[in-house]
Amino acid sequence: MTIKLREWTWFDLPVLAALRADAELQAQLMAKPKQNDVHEWLARRTSDPAGAFFIIDHEGACAGFVQLTQVERGESAWVGICVAPGRQGQGIGAQALSLIEAHARESFAARVVKLKVLQSNTRAISLYERHGFRRSGDDGDACLMEKV
Ligand SMILES: CC(C)(COP(=O)(O)OP(=O)(O)OC[C@H]1O[C@@H](n2cnc3c(N)ncnc32)[C@H](O)[C@@H]1OP(=O)(O)O)[C@@H](O)C(=O)NCCC(=O)NCCS
Repeated sequence: MTIKLREWTWFDLPVLAALRADAELQAQLMAKPKQNDVHEWLARRTSDPAGAFFIIDHEGACAGFVQLTQVERGESAWVGICVAPGRQGQGIGAQALSLIEAHARESFAARVVKLKVLQSNTRAISLYERHGFRRSGDDGDACLMEKV
């Protein structure tokens, strides 16, 4: 299983729309489900000078997305990761995390990579811990993690 990160294309829109509308998935991302906002969302994410957005591509198909937000060049960046429910548990999230972390460090010289994850999302937390992220604090029902 090899994935790559790439820019979005029109062929990705149905998968992305399904991810945006999935209430359970959005709850794990600490967000609410959204209908019919994919274009607006992509425009916002891809025009953010302090961010980056990539499709997780597996054999040409969209398996999810990763993003960087609140990038402070030479300092830090926040990582977000979402693997489509039907594609979870196949090693995609682990590879995507390595690739987006490398992008943060290489393209933005990020010294610290940060993320926020629900305390209840034990699967994601153990993935992050295995990748060297350490808990740095709490924010309500979420756990803040970072990797220097
Ligand atoms: C959390 C998430 C990114 C992980 O991605 P993934 O592709 O499912 O994870 P992987 O297949 O790469 O597996 C990562 C680890 O979780 C383990 N794992 C996979 N499926 C699992 C399952 N059903 N239950 C428990 N652990 C599981 C794997 O064994 C792997 O551990 P390993 O590295 O020791 O082998 C993905 O599940 C996801 O997007 N979830 C919904 C959104 C979300 O929670 N995002 C994170 C919010 S901050």
